[in-house]
Amino acid sequence: MVEGTLAKAFRVVAATVFATATVVYGQQAPCYFIFGDSTFDSGNNNNLQSKAKVNFPPYGIDFPQGPTGRFTNGRTIPDLIGELLGFKDFIPSFAGASPEQAHTGMNYASGGGGLREETSEHLGGRISLRNQILNHKKAIKKAKVPTQRLEQCLYAINIGSNDYINNYFMSEPYNTSRRFRPSQYAYSLIILYRAQLKSLHRLGARKVALFSISQIGCTPKMIASHGGGKGCGKEVNDAVAIFNKNLLDLVNDFNRKVKGAKFTYVDLFCGGDPLGYRRLGFKVGDKGCCTIAPGEELCTPNQPVCANRSEYIFWDDIHSTEATNMIVAKGSFEGILTKPYSISQLVKE
Ligand SMILES: *[C@@H]1O[C@H](CO)[C@@H](O)[C@H](O)[C@H]1NC(C)=O
Ligand SMILES: *[C@@H]1O[C@H](CO)[C@@H](O)[C@H](O)[C@H]1NC(C)=O
Repeated sequence: MVEGTLAKAFRVVAATVFATATVVYGQQAPCYFIFGDSTFDSGNNNNLQSKAKVNFPPYGIDFPQGPTGRFTNGRTIPDLIGELLGFKDFIPSFAGASPEQAHTGMNYASGGGGLREETSEHLGGRISLRNQILNHKKAIKKAKVPTQRLEQCLYAINIGSNDYINNYFMSEPYNTSRRFRPSQYAYSLIILYRAQLKSLHRLGARKVALFSISQIGCTPKMIASHGGGKGCGKEVNDAVAIFNKNLLDLVNDFNRKVKGAKFTYVDLFCGGDPLGYRRLGFKVGDKGCCTIAPGEELCTPNQPVCANRSEYIFWDDIHSTEATNMIVAKGSFEGILTKPYSISQLVKE
């Protein structure tokens, strides 16, 4: 099942993994807004007092502007989707944007950000999804973006991983694992998510892509802490699978019940299986490409990186390389990883 999904994804991307995402038609949406955590962040944490920031080399080693605060070597998943949509420029971070850029899009994502307010508090500054949506509200009000336009934009959201990595599965200083069973915790997160999506919908969002949580138990960080240093952390993957199932139900619920909603679910769980990636030609999936100090998960500044970044699934001990991001971006755009709409269909009338 997983293999089949990725084999299909591979056929789609094989020719273009290492090339720029080429686009046949013009810009396919008037505007594009991005919300989420470090996987989507493009620099919003740079000026925060936070351990979750990466505006230093070797981050950005393959990005045209060098280190920008992106948690990878090159382009992120939303950067690549933007290219596939025909956007000429990268969507600016909220922290670095000028007010009028709210007419074409902003990126509000923040490393460490989660659905729960306390998530990642041990890392210092970060912006929760709730506060990201408040930033969006400020931005579109200030620029007076018309509602009609906001209804035509694409909204991409990737949130929830930190509520597991930097909360539920970090028993100090967090106590959620003592207060909730995995199914209760997933349910409590979905309640928060639903409320935030209602707010976003009230602000005009109609075409929304919700990215599920990947197999975070299989990241080098979680293999070390929850997999006994060997296989994937099974309890971690089992817990996020419950969240993902609820998230898919939430997407279907919005499509059925909420006026004008055109939501889609992007399956990063099946689309993110490390064994599958090996079959796609990735050679290393159990450690990051950059130099990582013992007990750390981010790259050590200015230290050597692996010889061929395209052979690695992971850039550091938790974030994917641009090569991996390209597989996901293409898979979500073409529809191999999405239910019920591909992102390409989502932006069509
Ligand atoms: C759990 O931690 C929170 C702070 O994050 C605290 O307010 C709460 O009282 C704690 N609950 C229990 C049952 O320990
Ligand atoms: C890097 O790895 C990719 C994938 O295995 C391969 O296609 C490419 O030729 C390699 N590049 C170099 C410079 O070895």
